[in-house]
Amino acid sequence: MEWTHKDLLSVTQLTSAEILDIFHLAENFEEIGTRPVKKTPTLRGKSVLLFFAEPSTRTKTSFDIAAKRLSADTFSLATSGSSLEKGEDLRDTGLTLQAMQPDAIVIRHSQSGSADFLAQQLQCSVINAGDGWHAHPTQALLDGFSLYKLWGEFRGRTLLLLGDIAHSRVARSDIELFTKLGASVRLCGPRTLLPRYIRDWPVTVYSDLEEACRGVDAVQCLRLQLERQRSGLLPSLREYATRFGLRKRHMELARPGARIMHPGPLNRGIEIDSDLADSPESLILDQVSSGIAIRMTLLYLFLTSISRRSE
Ligand code: CP
Repeated sequence: MEWTHKDLLSVTQLTSAEILDIFHLAENFEEIGTRPVKKTPTLRGKSVLLFFAEPSTRTKTSFDIAAKRLSADTFSLATSGSSLEKGEDLRDTGLTLQAMQPDAIVIRHSQSGSADFLAQQLQCSVINAGDGWHAHPTQALLDGFSLYKLWGEFRGRTLLLLGDIAHSRVARSDIELFTKLGASVRLCGPRTLLPRYIRDWPVTVYSDLEEACRGVDAVQCLRLQLERQRSGLLPSLREYATRFGLRKRHMELARPGARIMHPGPLNRGIEIDSDLADSPESLILDQVSSGIAIRMTLLYLFLTSISRRSE
């Protein structure tokens, strides 16, 4: 595959052919994780800066593991303990980090557009690890990869995104990726947690969870983004769990073999029944493993295309 992108900011910039190429490469990189020595010298001498100005367990750790499995060096910066706490702005932080000559900066930030802003200022590759409500492209790629390994083909498949759509960068990126690959996407959630401009999206919207689950191939439950919500959007968590928490009876309406997903972290018993999250139909932990293979693939593409560009 010829990789011409300098940055990964959203799924919008990827073609369906590029997404499928990423999945094919990720299948090879996934195999490295099954070896007794989980390391190749592919990116020896390269360095990756993990700049996480918002909390993360899965994304940060899996980028770190992905880079190390390819023998790249990683360095971490978080808000706590850095000069961001002293008020240094994003541009100055980015320019300072670039002066240390990393080959790529992976950024998570609470402001939508922050990754794009940084990418315009910096010469090194910028990979968006989640910016505000806007986008989480590597999450959508790993969600797609988890289902690609099972389905192979996306046309004729239906994915339901359930819950807090309005505040979810995962929902926005998943909608783009799955519709690009030819799947149908349904949304279901409280009216207060659906964005106002939803009519422009290529999705079908449901208010009743049983109707929404009928005949679907997979359900991705979304985390209630309580840290991004203003008050008054939900009467109570108990009422939310009663109307929109995924339960066994809902999955019985889905297609046989339908899968259950969640990008994490989970609010068990609210967004999803705890037994369902741990059931054989759950892909939640496979999503985490897929994240390493997808991020190895992206680091490989970005960091080796730099070498090719400079030849
Ligand atoms: N899915 C996801 O982005 O999880 P983390 O916040 O733990 O990285």
